[in-house]
Amino acid sequence: MVFEDWVGQEYANLCVLYRAGADVPEPIQQCGSAILMDYIGDAVRPAPMLIGATVSYEEAQRLFDQAMRNIRIFLMKDRVHGDLSPYNMLLWKGRLVIIDLPQVVHARWNDEAFKVLQRDIENILQFFSRRGVKASASQLAIDLWTRYRRGELEIE
Ligand SMILES: Nc1ncnc2c1ncn2[C@@H]1O[C@H](COP(=O)(O)OP(=O)(O)OP(=O)(O)O)[C@@H](O)[C@H]1O
Ligand SMILES: [Mg+2]
Repeated sequence: MVFEDWVGQEYANLCVLYRAGADVPEPIQQCGSAILMDYIGDAVRPAPMLIGATVSYEEAQRLFDQAMRNIRIFLMKDRVHGDLSPYNMLLWKGRLVIIDLPQVVHARWNDEAFKVLQRDIENILQFFSRRGVKASASQLAIDLWTRYRRGELEIE
């Protein structure tokens, strides 16, 4: 029963985030402990994880911006992914799709939310900084968090 509540939470997160315009797989249905969502890929292969994909320096900044836009949308919906990394982002047709949502953290009620947000940004920046992206994870996290607490976040 507890497990099903937990799966229900994940499904609810997916629905809220998808509706808000985040790049997550479209949720289709929840059946007990299983979640049915859109499959990212084609008949030949599923979309690769970002960690295994070839990303050029030119593509890196654009994908990093897309990842940050998603982090902002999550936060506007009072959520922090909590396990964001190149293992939990798929790359398909030049766009990221964010997966693996069971550990989403509530930004307003969880005291650790800011730390989790900063860690998520650090994790992805580790990948992108090797491909030429220059940014400070702690500065990005502080800026986002400050705007979130003031109710000033917008989708850019
Ligand atoms: N919607 C999807 N479309 C295509 N592939 C997917 C999708 N969701 C997940 N996958 C594939 O399944 C893998 C595992 O998914 P996910 O990260 O959600 O679970 P996990 O809890 O990390 O599982 P594991 O511990 O087995 O990695 C992903 O790395 C990805 O390759
Ligand atoms: Mg995963």
